[in-house]
Amino acid sequence: MVYTLLINKADRKTIPVIPVDRDSFKIWHSKQSSFVKNFLAGLGHEVKSGVYVIIPNSEGKISQILLSVENADDFWAFGCLPINLPAGTYQIVANWKKDQLQRAVLAWGLGAYRFSKYKKQKALVAKLLVPKGIDINYAENLIAANTLVRDLINTPAEDMTPQALGKAAQELAKSFGAKYTITSGKNLLNKGFRAIHAVGRASVNEPCLIDFSWGKEKAPKVTLVGKGVCFDSGGLDLKPADGMVVMKKDMAGAAHVLGLAKMIMAANLPVRLRVIIPAVENLVSSNSIKPGDVITTYNGTTVEITNTDAEGRLILADALALASEDKPELLIDFASLTGAARIAVGTEIAAFFTNDNKAANEVFAFAEQEDDPCCRLPLYKPYMSGQDSKIADLRNLDVSSSYGGAIKAALFLQKFVAKDLPWLHFDIMAFNTRYRHGRPEGGEAQGIRAVFCYLTKKFGGNK
Ligand code: BES
Ligand code: ZN
Repeated sequence: MVYTLLINKADRKTIPVIPVDRDSFKIWHSKQSSFVKNFLAGLGHEVKSGVYVIIPNSEGKISQILLSVENADDFWAFGCLPINLPAGTYQIVANWKKDQLQRAVLAWGLGAYRFSKYKKQKALVAKLLVPKGIDINYAENLIAANTLVRDLINTPAEDMTPQALGKAAQELAKSFGAKYTITSGKNLLNKGFRAIHAVGRASVNEPCLIDFSWGKEKAPKVTLVGKGVCFDSGGLDLKPADGMVVMKKDMAGAAHVLGLAKMIMAANLPVRLRVIIPAVENLVSSNSIKPGDVITTYNGTTVEITNTDAEGRLILADALALASEDKPELLIDFASLTGAARIAVGTEIAAFFTNDNKAANEVFAFAEQEDDPCCRLPLYKPYMSGQDSKIADLRNLDVSSSYGGAIKAALFLQKFVAKDLPWLHFDIMAFNTRYRHGRPEGGEAQGIRAVFCYLTKKFGGNK
């Protein structure tokens, strides 16, 4: 469903798109004809980020597009154009740095996204001629990966079952020649993935564990793990209606690692990539896991279930323990794990945790650079005490206090990550609750552009 309308060569005359901030507007304005000046005055035009004006020539044809921006780093403003501009081939005319132009192209591509699976959307008619020196393949790679993430999240649980998620992963793996396996239903028990099975067994759509590997075997190993709860009703600790209504998005972690894997494989990063996704539906049935049950997870750690709605950390316990077995150089997980992370940093910032200070600083720097906001929260060990259990090694939720819930969930996950293994954990919202330019309401990728830059720097590659 990539339909970004980026082109390399224009077959007809292009229409200039001129980004202006307050200062450059004055210069631009001073050079305009009285016709244009009167036209803008008549509109009551103001320089305000994301406001665009279609300026006609004396024949009434489009002569140029004036786009207001805060400054040359305000690339998201371009995101409002592709769904609004009339038919034509557009060209950015600006004295911007290469990186700034590259991000403007990205914003155009991301702004062109609509979820059209169930509702016909009007065709996009505005094409963007990619500026000279800008890598169209790189832009398309990021846009396609982001689009994949959004589509997977936006697809309702009815059509995004664990099996459907498996199929999406398999298609991606196949398109890059990766080796794909899936373990489903009772087979999970045979292999020791008892937590994944326990959480997912109440659904007619069987739980599964998706696993694929790509790249040269000798290359540095990078493993991605994504929470794939295709629907989270809360289980017997049922969610109220307002909390359940968006829970098709609880497989967003899985969508993120597939999107990030797509970026890595398309860019041909010299790594040995492994992607692990535990996929389940957390539902209510006579065989649902119950509060008070004890599960023996994949690595033998026993967990008392104090709340069936804290299911993500259970399935991730199995997946992270599996991922730790072959000692990757870097382990990264993405999960829509806690409401508490949203209380801490809101919906538009990804919270992340890591045991690697260098990685933290670099990811943060790239997050700033790419405007893909990420904020580190601490793995503050003393908070783990609330997850001690009298009858098992751990319990899955501190029922004595809900403070610091995102930190406690991260500490719980850390129990299943091998000691000394560099690990990053992202707790994400993955859903835009309001429109912003380039970021329509609905499923959203968070943090993967920052992480991709970090991986590119760390491991090298084509870009
Ligand atoms: N899927 C949720 C976490 C979540 C909720 C992420 C809203 C993003 C937005 C997770 O499985 C869950 O249900 N967490 C509960 C835990 C509760 C039992 C303390 C939560 O955070 O509300
Ligand atoms: Zn839950």
